[in-house]
Amino acid sequence: MKHLLWWCLLAACTSGPAVLDSRTELQLTSPDGRITATVALDDSSILYYTVKRDGNEVVGYSPIAFEFEDAMGPERGQRIVECVGPELRVQDYELPWGEQRWVHDEAQVGRMELLDVWDHRWSVEFSVMDDGVAFRTHFHQREERDSITVLEELSAINLTGNPEAWWIPGDWDSYELVYQNTRLDEIDAFAAWDSTAIISTTVKENAIATPATFRYDDGLHVALHEAALYDYPEITLKRTERGLVTDLVGAARIGLPFSTPWRTITLSDDAGGLLESTMALDLNAPQVEDPTGQDWKWVRPMKYVGIWWEMHLDKSSWSLWNTDEQGAPIVGDAHGRHGATTENARRYIDFAAAHGFDGVLVEGWNTGWERWIGFDDREGVFDFVTPYPDYDVRGLALYAESQGVQLIAHHETSAAVTTYDAQLDTAYAQMAALGQRAVKTGYVGPIIPRGEHHHGQWMVQHYQRTVETAARHGVALNIHEPIKDTGIRRTWPNLLSREGARGQEFNAWGRNGGNPIDHNATLAFTRMLAGPMDFTPGAVHLSLDPWRPANRIPTTLGGQLGLYVVFYSPLQMACDLPEHYEREPVFLDFLEHVAVDWEWTDVLSGEVGEFAVVARQERGGDRVFIGGINAEAPRTVEEPLGFLDRVGHDGRWELLLWEDGAEGIVKTKRTVAATDTLVLELASGGGFAGFAYPAP
Ligand code: NOJ
Ligand code: CA
Repeated sequence: MKHLLWWCLLAACTSGPAVLDSRTELQLTSPDGRITATVALDDSSILYYTVKRDGNEVVGYSPIAFEFEDAMGPERGQRIVECVGPELRVQDYELPWGEQRWVHDEAQVGRMELLDVWDHRWSVEFSVMDDGVAFRTHFHQREERDSITVLEELSAINLTGNPEAWWIPGDWDSYELVYQNTRLDEIDAFAAWDSTAIISTTVKENAIATPATFRYDDGLHVALHEAALYDYPEITLKRTERGLVTDLVGAARIGLPFSTPWRTITLSDDAGGLLESTMALDLNAPQVEDPTGQDWKWVRPMKYVGIWWEMHLDKSSWSLWNTDEQGAPIVGDAHGRHGATTENARRYIDFAAAHGFDGVLVEGWNTGWERWIGFDDREGVFDFVTPYPDYDVRGLALYAESQGVQLIAHHETSAAVTTYDAQLDTAYAQMAALGQRAVKTGYVGPIIPRGEHHHGQWMVQHYQRTVETAARHGVALNIHEPIKDTGIRRTWPNLLSREGARGQEFNAWGRNGGNPIDHNATLAFTRMLAGPMDFTPGAVHLSLDPWRPANRIPTTLGGQLGLYVVFYSPLQMACDLPEHYEREPVFLDFLEHVAVDWEWTDVLSGEVGEFAVVARQERGGDRVFIGGINAEAPRTVEEPLGFLDRVGHDGRWELLLWEDGAEGIVKTKRTVAATDTLVLELASGGGFAGFAYPAP
C-alpha cells in the first residue's frame, strides 16, 4: 500500500508562547485559489470563522464554542497564544477497495492555539481543500484532570442567504426517514418527523441529520457532514436565526487530550462534485495494520443474494416456532414458514453459484426470532452462535465453499447491545472458523440500556468495538441501523458497508406504499455522500403481488439496474428471490456482469432529487460501467463518452445497454467511440445500466 504524506511550511503567521495580538488572523486558501477560510477573534474575544468561494461569502460569521459540565466556554475571553500555518498537506494514497483506487489530496492547513478564561489550552485546526473546508477542535492535556464532560458543542455553520435544502430530521436513533426539500429557513424537523413510521426514533430539537445538501440559486452546491467520528456523539445541525449550529446527540465524556471529529463543508459547482469529493477519506487516518497480519487481503468486495426479501415480503419468516400467549417460543412446535432452512439455503447457494454471486446472506438462522422486538426486556434473546435445528450451519458452510460461494452471517441484536458485546468474540471466532468473512449486523429498536441512543457516544464506541473485534477475527462488517459513515473505512478497511437511510426494504412494507419516487435520486446526493450504502437494489418483481398488495417498487426495472452503478457499495445485494430472477433472464444477465469495485468514478450528470448518471471503471479490468436513475419527470440525458479515454484504449468500444422498453428490460449492443454522445430517454422512475468494453 502506497502512502505519501508530507507537510511543507509555506509561511507561519507567527508563533510563540506569549499571548498574541487579538487581531491575529489565520487565513487559508485552497490550492486552486477559489476557497478562503478566515479564523479570528471577534470584539468579545469569541473565536469565529468565515468561508468565501470565488470572493463570495458562503459561510458568514460562525463562532466555535463549547459548553462543559463544570464551566461555560470556551467562548468569550479567548486569547490567541499561537497561530500555525498556512502549511501545505499533500497525500497520495491507494484504497484497497472503493469508488476509486488512487486518491490525491492537497490542502492548506493551519490552526489557532488558544487559552480560555480559565487558562485551559485548546485549539481549532482548519483544512481548506479545492472541494471545501473542514475544522476540528483539540482539547489539550491538563495537569489537574484527565477527562472532561462536553455538554454541547456549539460550532456554527452559518450558510449565507437561504439556499434550497435536502434533509431529514436530526433523529438521535434513526436515519430511516423521508427526505424533505425546503429552503434553509423553512427547516422544521418536528413537522417532518413521522414518529410512528419506525420502531426507534427520537427528535429533540429543530435539527437535521448530516450529510445534508444545499443548493444556491446560482448553482453552488454545499454538503455539511463530519469526518472521523470516534469516541464522541454525532452532530446534528440545529436551525438558528443565523443559520445552523452543531447539536450533539447527548453529552460526551472525553479523555484528554482529545480531538473532535472534523466538521466538513463540501462546496461544488454541481451536485456531482459533492459525490466525487474524497474529503471525508482525506481527513481520516491512513489504514491501520491488519491485526491478522494479512494486509487486509481477506476483505473482499462482493455481490450477494440472500434469504432476506422473502421475509420482508412476508412470504416466509425469520422465526421457527409457534409462540405461547406470552409470546415465548414453543420449542418443537414449528409453524412451517421458517425461511432459513438448510434446504432453502442450499437453493440460494446453488443460485448464487450458477449466476456468479460471491455471497449468500442468511437471516433467521439463529435462535431468538420468536420474540425479538416490541418489548423492553430484550437482553439475552438472541444467541449468535446457536442455529435453529432445521439449519445446518456447519454443513452449509462446507457446501457453500464447495460451490465457490461464501455464507454471510447475520447478527440482529434488537438493540440489546450488552448481549451482543458479550458474544462478539465467540460469534466472530465461529464465523471465521466456518470461513464466513462478512457479517451483517442490525440494531432494530430502542437501545438498551434506555437513555442511550444509536447516534450517541456510547453507541459510537460500541459500533467501533464491533469493527475492531471483527478485524481481529478477519471479519468484515455491513452495519444496519448504524452510526453514519464518516470515512473511517479508510482506516478500517473491514467496515465494508452500512445502511443508514430508508433502503429498499421500505418499498416492501413502508407505509404509503413505500419510498417516494424521488427518493433514490435524493439519496444519490445526500446519504450517499457519506459512503457506501447497503441499499439492496435489484428488485425485479415490481408489483410485490401477491404478498404486499398495498406496496409496489416505485421504479422501473431500468431504475433498479441503474442503482448498481449509481449507489456505491462494495457489498452489493441482488435483493429479489431466485425464482423471480429466473423469470427475467435479461435483467439477471446484467447482475451477473456488473462489477462492485472501481478504478475511478465520474459523476456525469445529475440534480439532487431529480436524476443521476454515473460512470465507473471496474477495478483490475477495462470495462467501463455507466448507469442512471431518474425521479418522476421523464427526461432525455445526453452523455458525451469522453470518459472512456481514461482507460487508455484508442479504438472503438462495444457498448451493452439495459434499458426500459415497452415490455420490460431490453438489452442492446452498439459500437461507439469516445467522441460519441449517448442519448437516452429515462422514464418516470426509470433508469438504465450497461458497460463498454474495447471492441475486439
Ligand atoms: C432491519 C434491517 O435493515 C433489515 O435488513 C433486516 O432484515 C431486519 N432489520 C432484521 O434484522
Ligand atoms: Ca433498517
